[in-house]
Amino acid sequence: MKENLEQKRFQKNPIKGTKFTIAISSAKGGVGKSTFATNLALALKNIGCKVGLLDADIYGPSLPKLFSINQKPESDGKTLKPILKYDIQCMSIGFLTDEQTPMIWRGPMVTSAIKTFTQKVSWKDLDFIIVDMPPGTGDTQLTFAQEISMDGVIIISTPQEIALQDVKRGIKMFDKLKVKIIGLIDNMSHFIGDDGKKYAIFGEGGVKKTAEEFEKEFLGEIPINPEVGKQGDLGLPIVECKPDHEISKIYKSFAEKIKSTYL
Ligand SMILES: Nc1ncnc2c1ncn2[C@@H]1O[C@H](COP(=O)(O)OP(=O)(O)O)[C@@H](O)[C@H]1O
Ligand SMILES: [Mg+2]
Repeated sequence: MKENLEQKRFQKNPIKGTKFTIAISSAKGGVGKSTFATNLALALKNIGCKVGLLDADIYGPSLPKLFSINQKPESDGKTLKPILKYDIQCMSIGFLTDEQTPMIWRGPMVTSAIKTFTQKVSWKDLDFIIVDMPPGTGDTQLTFAQEISMDGVIIISTPQEIALQDVKRGIKMFDKLKVKIIGLIDNMSHFIGDDGKKYAIFGEGGVKKTAEEFEKEFLGEIPINPEVGKQGDLGLPIVECKPDHEISKIYKSFAEKIKSTYL
């Protein structure tokens, strides 16, 4: 009986309509998760994958802004239809609410929204759904790990000690929940000035060191580049509008790695 209960409790419902679900996480906010999730999705699309983007940040959705989406998804009363933008199937709580309305929801409502987005959205024929996680180690992460199957998670951090502290908590959580950590990314690793010099604004080497400490793969660095933020604010991510930019090439290499690992 107990065994049954446990089985039931951890019964996982994979997202229908996709072969693989990959989450972009980090216990810290502002390290570039949403930027990474959107650009990785576009890089995967550019190398021929069918991709969906699920913005799972219920309290602070970014996808409407980052992809410049202002329309509401259609519904047939049973399912919500993802919005197609840049050839990517997109869903975000931000498509359903006013931009400036704060979400004042308790945990169970967040869990229920996540279930709606994973089970009641008509995702179609996808190779990958990239899930943009909120910061923290809370209800959203738990729901994805325990009730929805995730095929892997990529952890983003800046090299700053305060970000790394949270990242370590995040790694321990996913290890405990037995979610495969694909690897760690050092975002905003450094800045190359007009003088050609390298400036380690948030410190150096910390993400790689953390990866080694926890025996995870270090996937690589993405430098600070003002173009990244500018394009994000315009709702036209750098990988979409400048696929040959040095930053876009870095994203392409990550996308190739993901594609060859899973497909
Ligand atoms: N490599 C980068 N170079 C420059 N700015 C970046 C880079 N990565 C992220 N940013 C900027 O950092 C800010 C936070 O990024 P965001 O993706 O919203 O973080 P998170 O989702 O982790 O909260 C945004 O203004 C974004 O444009
Ligand atoms: Mg975000």
